[in-house]
Amino acid sequence: MAEATSKFTPRIFSGIQPSGGLTLGNYLGALKRFVEKQNEGIETIYCLVDLHAITVWQDPEKLRAQTREAAAGFIAAGIDPKRSILFNQSQVPGHAQLAWIFNCVARMGWMGRMTQWKDKTAGKNAEAESLGLFAYPSLMAADILLYHATHVPVGEDQKQHLELTRDIAMKFNHDYKVDFFPVTEPVIEGAATRVMSLRDGSKKMSKSDPSDASRINLTDDADTIAQKFRKARTDPEPLPEALDGLKERPEAKNLVNIYAALADMTAEAVIAEFGGKGFGTFKPALADLAVARLAPIAEEMKRLMADPAEIDRILGDGAERADAIAAPILQRTFDIVGMIRSRG
Ligand code: AMP
Ligand code: TRP
Repeated sequence: MAEATSKFTPRIFSGIQPSGGLTLGNYLGALKRFVEKQNEGIETIYCLVDLHAITVWQDPEKLRAQTREAAAGFIAAGIDPKRSILFNQSQVPGHAQLAWIFNCVARMGWMGRMTQWKDKTAGKNAEAESLGLFAYPSLMAADILLYHATHVPVGEDQKQHLELTRDIAMKFNHDYKVDFFPVTEPVIEGAATRVMSLRDGSKKMSKSDPSDASRINLTDDADTIAQKFRKARTDPEPLPEALDGLKERPEAKNLVNIYAALADMTAEAVIAEFGGKGFGTFKPALADLAVARLAPIAEEMKRLMADPAEIDRILGDGAERADAIAAPILQRTFDIVGMIRSRG
């Protein structure tokens, strides 16, 4: 455990936006690792960040359905709502309250340098984006620090946001002369911290990609999964005999990494097994593995989604438990900042 977080009890927090269905990227980069952390016996808090989702337009009914679907995905993938806390962000008011305080700690320049902001506004009129989209990383820092979380498992794309979270914690501690917020450690590990599109090895696999063939959805059935892998874009060469040979081959590298992550192997071990073999051999093996791992999750999601009231109950219970941790931390934050809190 790093020095800076050592006075804090180890606690894991992470979040996923319910802005569309979950993808294989979410599963390998985040969810699968959330389950591993839970099973290591560390305190784990997982959040469906609906307040982040509305930084871009969301149809209200779809947002509600996607939030329930994401919750079902978490549970189907192995999150046990008794051992972990699973809830949606808007049910715990402290997220928005702490985010406001952080909006007054963070600087405009910090936000303007976020590559995700720059990517999302590239070629568009930034003036027409929501103020929430610009402030997005400040809310993310609030999500994490509201629980004094020490470790945050995420995919590679979130690294810069976590650095900003550390900057906010340090500036708050410095400005108010306290040692109150932990300087959180990102946990970016495993073979698939950046899963790429199946159609274009230079693009991240994303729930917002217009092409459904670019991604595996956690709700895809066995035939769809197999077909998408069979049709995945690749080059004509066989797999190399050594990992080095994947350097200039983003599509091949992506499929090897996906295989490794699904099989709990290293990419080296996958190359040791499939080096020299063509995609005619590798793709069917990958498709079989993916179906074996993912189809049961899709089945279980379907079962869980048939009972939305039960999902809502689970999220409500999680929100109550999250709030019990957050409330004293928020109270103390208001004290530090100089707000009177005299209501009974
Ligand atoms: P999002 O869907 O953007 O809310 O992301 C939720 C989590 O999934 C974050 O930890 C992301 O880093 C992770 N994630 C999303 N897409 C990918 C991907 N293509 N590869 C690896 N991790 C991903
Ligand atoms: N920004 C993250 C993403 O899009 C989601 C997120 C919001 C998050 N709050 C968080 C991730 C707190 C980790 C911790 O992937």
